[in-house]
Amino acid sequence: DLKAERLTRPNMGHIGGILLDENTCNTWSQICDFQASSEDLLVAAYPKAGITWMQEIVDMIHHGGDEQMCKRAPTYDRHPFIEIVAPKPVPSGLELAKAMSPPRIIKTHLPVQLVPLSFWKQDCKVIYVARNPKDSLVSYYHFQRMNHGLPAPGTWDEYFDAFLAGEVPWGSWYDHVKGWWNAKDRQRILFTFYEDLKEDPKREIQKVLQFLGKDLGDAVLEKIIHHTSFQEMKNNPMTNYSSIPSFIFDHSISPFLRKGTIGDWKNHFSVAQNERFDEDYEKKMSGTSLKFRSEL
Ligand code: A3P
Repeated sequence: DLKAERLTRPNMGHIGGILLDENTCNTWSQICDFQASSEDLLVAAYPKAGITWMQEIVDMIHHGGDEQMCKRAPTYDRHPFIEIVAPKPVPSGLELAKAMSPPRIIKTHLPVQLVPLSFWKQDCKVIYVARNPKDSLVSYYHFQRMNHGLPAPGTWDEYFDAFLAGEVPWGSWYDHVKGWWNAKDRQRILFTFYEDLKEDPKREIQKVLQFLGKDLGDAVLEKIIHHTSFQEMKNNPMTNYSSIPSFIFDHSISPFLRKGTIGDWKNHFSVAQNERFDEDYEKKMSGTSLKFRSEL
């Protein structure tokens, strides 16, 4: 009886100073030892940057724009989430990855320094998605409210402080984006932005196609744009996480595909919080060429 089931929020631990689920910490040596294939594609992002969106785009590209093929299973069964050791029925990323044959699309939220070394040894292609921190913070707050597989976020004000301090699962947003930005010139990493994808999906999907060495033609490109739009993904049970039981993901608290916009932070940040945020941002992001747009 799923209704009767309750999930207690997880205990957390640290790996290399990064806050992670205790189950992930306890499996860490196996995660580190994961053997990638050179054909595997890694899709990486800090939580709530739009990784599910990019996963769907890449899955459509891999299957030549065949949306029925992309409806073969929910996102989390199609693309192993390599560091996750989640409650059933969500599969463990490692088990799922090992049961699949390459070329695999593998998902991670890990900061670049914690990625299993094999991905670099095999010179795998990586697509990183970054999203402006204000919308990331808001989206993450609502996600931690609805996802009982993560710690409860506390009040909005408490969460705001925790995010700025980097005391949230997968660590500091600031370190995450800077780390991946610095790595992009050493490895085969396509660094993309949520805001760019919103602004011009065609242009951005073309970049992904080029990075993957594919040319599918205009009709297929249009199909991919349509199938991966917010509304289509929100209504698609294979992309909207509705198959996860509600004692884990409670969409009545906040749906997984919540708003899908740029600038929702304006409905959450107080004037004082916004000032504090900007001041703190300048300090943490000084000396990087990485720039974000928090409105279009
Ligand atoms: P919001 O909470 O702001 O709505 P992730 O997949 O990395 O967990 O990110 C989830 C965020 O991406 C959510 O943001 C979600 O709505 C948004 N998102 C998912 N698919 C999208 C799409 N096709 N277009 C725009 N935003 C999308």
